Amino acid sequence: MSSVLPPTYDRVGRHGLSPDVTHDETARFNFLTNLNVHIGQKIFPGTKLAFESRVAPAFDKAHGRALRDQCEVRDAMKCDPLYQFWAATRRSTMEMRQQSGRHVVLRQLGKMSAKAAALNAGKNTLVLDPRVTPPDYLAQVDNHWMPGSYYSEATPGDVLSGAAYEAGLFVTTAGSMSARGDGAGRALVRYLAEKFPDFKPRRILDLGAGVGVNTLPIVQAFPDAEVVAVDAAAPTLRYAHARSQAMGYGNVQFIQASADDLPFPANSFDWIQTTMFWHETSVATVRAGLKKIHEMLRPGGLTLHIEQPNFAADTPLWDRFTRDWDAWFNNEPFWRKLHMMNVFDEMAAAGFGRDRLFDGATEADIEPGMYQDWASTLSRHKPELKRADDAANDGARKGEFWYLFGAWK
Ligand SMILES: C[S@@+](CC[C@H](N)C(=O)[O-])C[C@H]1O[C@@H](n2cnc3c(N)ncnc32)[C@H](O)[C@@H]1O
Repeated sequence: MSSVLPPTYDRVGRHGLSPDVTHDETARFNFLTNLNVHIGQKIFPGTKLAFESRVAPAFDKAHGRALRDQCEVRDAMKCDPLYQFWAATRRSTMEMRQQSGRHVVLRQLGKMSAKAAALNAGKNTLVLDPRVTPPDYLAQVDNHWMPGSYYSEATPGDVLSGAAYEAGLFVTTAGSMSARGDGAGRALVRYLAEKFPDFKPRRILDLGAGVGVNTLPIVQAFPDAEVVAVDAAAPTLRYAHARSQAMGYGNVQFIQASADDLPFPANSFDWIQTTMFWHETSVATVRAGLKKIHEMLRPGGLTLHIEQPNFAADTPLWDRFTRDWDAWFNNEPFWRKLHMMNVFDEMAAAGFGRDRLFDGATEADIEPGMYQDWASTLSRHKPELKRADDAANDGARKGEFWYLFGAWK
């Protein structure tokens, strides 16, 4: 790990719908990004040392046995001062990221929403459906401390949620998802080109597409395909569609629908993608969604999912604790349950043949000058990723980052 500082906020890839960002706002984003990187690179490794050298031995001594699970680790670590410092600061940087992104957008919301409305006007590529109500896990949770999550508005018809999400993303990723935050989509396209070069999908669905950052590399890579991006949140979709129009991508349709009730017939897509989506849903949505994906795929079609890997039998206790941390302290309630599921069993139950399932890993695709080093610290699932990566790439990759699982129908 190098100690090179992260790139500055002025490296964020701007587009026609980007908010104006003042000197002071830029300085705030830079401060938060550097604080985030500092506690991740310099303080977080110390918490593991604290666990191994004082917290776990003290627990052994007091209880006459070793720690059994990550809940016990969480409770034991709560009393450790270095851990308290790291955890409180990490949570605060996330809260400040959300507030800072929101602040930048709120002070120019009218102008941004009007610009988006002009870009969206008269386009049949944006289909909003007021009958779609956000599922409880969106309506009742401020996901990763984002006030109002992805769906709420400050004024009717605005773009607040989507715009604030994109404005603050850089604080968390420190540029390691590339200038436009689309590193996962780019990695996905590269993975397909390397693994399945003959795969030429004609109709593609990106489910839970958010502001579309990772949809657009797919649109770019498959210019002749019809791409449909679905999300449950209208303000996010308004922003996503206007953003794609501002960037010159006309050939992608944004549709408001919930994964629990998708309005597409059987055999209607060649490729169905989700990227960092399932961990913000629920067991019921994973099950219903995978079943529907199996139904919507054409025979010979592919489904791929970039997601947190499940725990493996040999995932170390410390890694289980640090990976579940977000469920307890970062408002990601389903994060922990997803770790404990077995997505292969779920895919099989949804109708996919066991012999058609696979998993793997792919490197983040980041342009030069951005922050490769941070990419490898963003995901805290090294053991599982390493195994999947070795299996998929004979251990050849160095900067492994994205875990994915999938199946052919
Ligand atoms: C973490 S974001 C991921 C966005 C995007 N895939 C990306 O790579 O940036 C999760 C998205 O899923 C959407 N979402 C959550 N539950 C949903 C559901 N049941 N149906 C459709 N979208 C949903 C949220 O509104 C949010 O935009």
